[in-house]
Amino acid sequence: MRNVLARKRTTAKPGETVPVAPGGLPVVGHAVKALRDPRGFLRSLPAHGDMIRISVGPLKAVMVCNPELTSQILLNDRTYDKGGLLFDRAGEVFGDGLVTCPHAKHRRERRLVQPAFHRSRLSGYARAMTEGTALLTSRWRDGQVLDMPAEMLSLTMHNMFQTMLGGTLSPQEMRQLVSDAIEVQHATYRRTFTPAVLNRIPTPGNRRYQRALAGLNNTVTDIIAKAQVNPEDHGDLLSALLTSRDPGSSGECPAGGGQSERLSSTELRNEVLTFLVAGSETTAITLAWALYLVACNPEIQERLWAETDRVLDGGPVSLDHLPDLKLSNQIITETLRLYPPAGMIWTRMVTADTQLGGYDLPAGTTIAYSPYALQRLARYYPDPEAFDPDRWDAEKQHSTPRNNAYLTFGGGARKCIGDQFAVTEAVLALTDIASRWRLEPVPGQNHPAITPSMGPRALKMRLSARKVSQRTS
Ligand code: HEM
Repeated sequence: MRNVLARKRTTAKPGETVPVAPGGLPVVGHAVKALRDPRGFLRSLPAHGDMIRISVGPLKAVMVCNPELTSQILLNDRTYDKGGLLFDRAGEVFGDGLVTCPHAKHRRERRLVQPAFHRSRLSGYARAMTEGTALLTSRWRDGQVLDMPAEMLSLTMHNMFQTMLGGTLSPQEMRQLVSDAIEVQHATYRRTFTPAVLNRIPTPGNRRYQRALAGLNNTVTDIIAKAQVNPEDHGDLLSALLTSRDPGSSGECPAGGGQSERLSSTELRNEVLTFLVAGSETTAITLAWALYLVACNPEIQERLWAETDRVLDGGPVSLDHLPDLKLSNQIITETLRLYPPAGMIWTRMVTADTQLGGYDLPAGTTIAYSPYALQRLARYYPDPEAFDPDRWDAEKQHSTPRNNAYLTFGGGARKCIGDQFAVTEAVLALTDIASRWRLEPVPGQNHPAITPSMGPRALKMRLSARKVSQRTS
């Protein structure tokens, strides 16, 4: 019997308030449970109802545990606007960048940023991505043991800088920028669940964060100023932003009350920082998990080798191979289902009194949703804990409808703008690595711990160069 029947139904009666999740303690609420085992806590919530109230430190929210209701939220970004603790903290770093800006600014900003992600630009980005993987793996040696999350992060950061700036940074500037970006990203998540007063105390952690943020700001501002001298489209992300014009804007300067038809220097800085942080660690986490999951599933590994050998036929991978890399694509999709990067929790703020799932939600309520919890619901994904790339095979597809239950990239108008970019990068890198290397976790690495952004913490894997006789054609 599917465990859907064990799920408690919540049919709210008029005037009923959203119930509180069980196990909360006075003052700290669910903080102890959530901080001790965040994944277990999130996954326990849907069993108590479609909507449930949680309180974790400063975060007090109504958690939506039903994909259809989550979809209603994502499709109405005026009533459920960006906001809540996560975005308040992230806004301190990215200003009103595309991820953090409110509904009132979003449509213009999205129109201005969208051309940078047009399909026609993807082949240029894909070239930089495959060169990045080739450069990284040229340093790999047979028998070497490497920390895969760190390797993948250096790959995706490198790729992000190359696609964004077209290789204008020295290796040393690049290293510094990468390390600052990682520090800022990790600290932002940590600071979300820490009371604001503690974030202002000059602890070593807070000082590290302030230093990294200042470094990041200065370098990015500098890069933009240099690029503005000659604002031509060179095929990279930044020059697409520099040359983008919004036909829907009045053409006036924002200071004059109208909406400028191009991005200002501050907006450019916000977008560059947003891409750096939103677009690097997410894909690195995906790749590290994918390599690990493939290594733990020998039958999938054999099939992946067979696919890469057949499609690449001994040559390097390119964007043209993408339509034929069916299994590689399914592996990435399934990895993103099980471990949606940064997918523990996203928040929204209710801007006007409304109703959801039969409950009244007053303006000012924080709403939260968790792709991680929703993508492990058995009624949408039979045997939800299993790594099963074939569940994405259109020909074999299981009959269970799961239309709204894949939220790795969010949905509605605020859906991830970099989804194709990320999947392309991950599929190309996975294929390239699998075509030449066999990876296996070293003993003791079988159940990696997880970082707050859902990545494997320190996952050591041993490399072996694949021999011709290993290749299954
Ligand atoms: C596996 C990789 C990625 C994942 C899982 C991911 C996930 C997400 C999610 C869930 C959202 C919506 C957040 C919400 O509902 O509040 C989002 C938005 C966004 N992502 Fe991604 N992302 C990834 C890669 C990227 C890349 C590569 C870029 C850019 C180069 C990027 C840029 C953005 C931007 C700018 C937004 C805001 C879109 C808007 O509000 O209009 N992401 N991402």
